[in-house]
Amino acid sequence: MPLVGYSDRLSLRPGETISFNVSSTVSDPYTAWMTRSISADPNPAGMGIVEESVDDAFPEQSFPSRYQPFFPGSYGITDKSVVLSLKKGFGIAATVFPTLAKQSRQTILSVAEIALFVDEEGAVALTVGDNTLSTSVPLELRRWWKLEAGFNVRTSHLYIQQTPIARSATNAVVISHEFELPSASIEARVLIAASWQDGRATDHFNGKIENPGLFHGNEITPENAIASWDFSKNISSTIAYDSGPNRIDAALVNFPARAMTGSLWDACEMCWRHAPEHYGAIHFHDDDIYDFKWETDFTFTVPEDLPSGVYVMRIRCGEHEDAMPFYVCAPRGQPRANLCVLIPTFTYVVYGNHARPDYEPSWQERIVDWNAYPYNPAEYRGYGLSTYNVHSDGSGICHASHLRPLFSLRPGYLTFGTGVGSGLRHFQADSHLISCLHAKDIAYDVITDQELHEDGSAALADYDAVMTTTHPEYHTRETLDALQSYRDTGGHLVYLGGNGFYWRIAVHNQADGIIEIRRGEGGIRAWAAEPGEYYNAFDGAYGGLWRRSGRPPQILVGIGFTAQGEFEGSYYERKCHDPAYRWIFNGVDEDIIGDFGFSGGGAAGFELDRVDHRLGTPANTVLLASSKNHGNGFVLVPEERLTHLTNWSGEPTRNLLRADMIYFDVPGGGSVFATGSITFCGSLPWNKFDNNVSTILANVIQRMTS
Ligand SMILES: [Fe+2]
Repeated sequence: MPLVGYSDRLSLRPGETISFNVSSTVSDPYTAWMTRSISADPNPAGMGIVEESVDDAFPEQSFPSRYQPFFPGSYGITDKSVVLSLKKGFGIAATVFPTLAKQSRQTILSVAEIALFVDEEGAVALTVGDNTLSTSVPLELRRWWKLEAGFNVRTSHLYIQQTPIARSATNAVVISHEFELPSASIEARVLIAASWQDGRATDHFNGKIENPGLFHGNEITPENAIASWDFSKNISSTIAYDSGPNRIDAALVNFPARAMTGSLWDACEMCWRHAPEHYGAIHFHDDDIYDFKWETDFTFTVPEDLPSGVYVMRIRCGEHEDAMPFYVCAPRGQPRANLCVLIPTFTYVVYGNHARPDYEPSWQERIVDWNAYPYNPAEYRGYGLSTYNVHSDGSGICHASHLRPLFSLRPGYLTFGTGVGSGLRHFQADSHLISCLHAKDIAYDVITDQELHEDGSAALADYDAVMTTTHPEYHTRETLDALQSYRDTGGHLVYLGGNGFYWRIAVHNQADGIIEIRRGEGGIRAWAAEPGEYYNAFDGAYGGLWRRSGRPPQILVGIGFTAQGEFEGSYYERKCHDPAYRWIFNGVDEDIIGDFGFSGGGAAGFELDRVDHRLGTPANTVLLASSKNHGNGFVLVPEERLTHLTNWSGEPTRNLLRADMIYFDVPGGGSVFATGSITFCGSLPWNKFDNNVSTILANVIQRMTS
């Protein structure tokens, strides 16, 4: 990428400062300017991309170009150097679970020119300077192996033992060879799962490592330990604890996965907190990514009078451009509107750089035609993919970071480059709602998941109404509690999406900008967490669907995920003609609602939510409208299915493939309006924002904010 950047945060309040970190391979300086984003949909059949100038807040300026590299791959590195006297002998031990055959070296543990690694043949090898010894017997993948290797001074032999722990067709291998070792001593830092070369980590290991250790002398015994890292300790931290005598802890770089089942795990315990000794493994990957750690090129401090909203820092050099969106909230406790739009930044980050399995290079035709954002993560995998993708070894990506460029979070990015409508999701699809608020002159503030997580319901307390966007899918306990509390203390909640409030995530309490997701047991999943690995490492909570933690979305918003299909939309049919709710339909005479739109061609589509009283829909819920006529590709979600004949609710499956538009009052004066479809907001801009979907939304906002 010739010109690309990211910001250190995605949202901030007046008086706070955001940093922009840019890498440019162009020699000329680049220009930066800031805009307010109204529409991020590049479809020429609609508004196109619309941004307002905010030159007063951030005058256009130039900055020198410089290339900033990044280095994927996780590893551990000690904070101190160890001293190893080779003439006294040494040993390296580790228990490993390799997951990837690779045509290059994968280091298990290294210190200077000494390394224990899996070689190109998949066998365990030991290098000391120019001498290398290999067992020449490949390790079977996805099996546990106990490895010991070193140099025995008494026999002048280098040796390696690779021993299968269980379930292996391969026998143990012991190999040794006489070598003349230099009688030097080594003083260097130890790396776990990588080697150090040219000032950076390289030769990353793919798989799980348990209890690696470094020893002096001829025997590998606890008494001879220089360091012995116990990954079952401090599992939520980014430090690997050394249980040896010297306390040489190792910092974990690029967030390898912790709370992974180790060689001792026997399914007696599924929660790592109850048997940490069963969770002594860390899973390292050569493509793990966290913080690119680029240096800051420039900053922006939000002036007190800048309206809350969606902003974009744009940069350009010659033909190259990038755009970094961010959100400005109102000053804490000082709302500037009655309505607050909750921006699902956690969901944006969890989806960040999603390389879709159905991506086709032919999508570039529409991208070029529409002058849409040109880069797709499917073609730029090196920047790290999303938690909807898998690592190079096939294991699920369970960490998501925004401290790197996220191509999917760019104005004009197309999630789908084909099909009816604009093919937008997330940031770009949510701009259909933002542009509608501007078109209808409805004042709003924004807030993001980050403020909601940190400040709880206080972040919302001053607003009459809080409105979600198209897909608020990922929530921490804190964000869910905040919304529930807001609703139950008189707040009006408007849920304009589908498949919301679905997955439970955790944020790290020491490292900024990183989210953890375990795709355990059920739900529409891009991958499946391994048995025994359903509990988050970050907070120790049971991960997966909120429904499996006793909080189905129906409890909060009356509806929850029921069906999924292609990115196509159908329409709602009005079900409620009770005069008590006529205010919702003021100006709408017809019963067919939303049979048009820029997201899949209809207001009810792609992912649908419905009422289910057993799952928590309140008894006083009013069914305003239900969708129908969904295509053959729509299916009941896995957690709703029981057998090939039966399902959770007991109703005929075809009746469950629908979105329910609902309303209910909440004791305490609050209320909920919910639409249950991801594509609902795509209909708002239709016919220049003059249509029955936008009319209904305006009616609801009017009532809830007056
Ligand atoms: Fe989703």
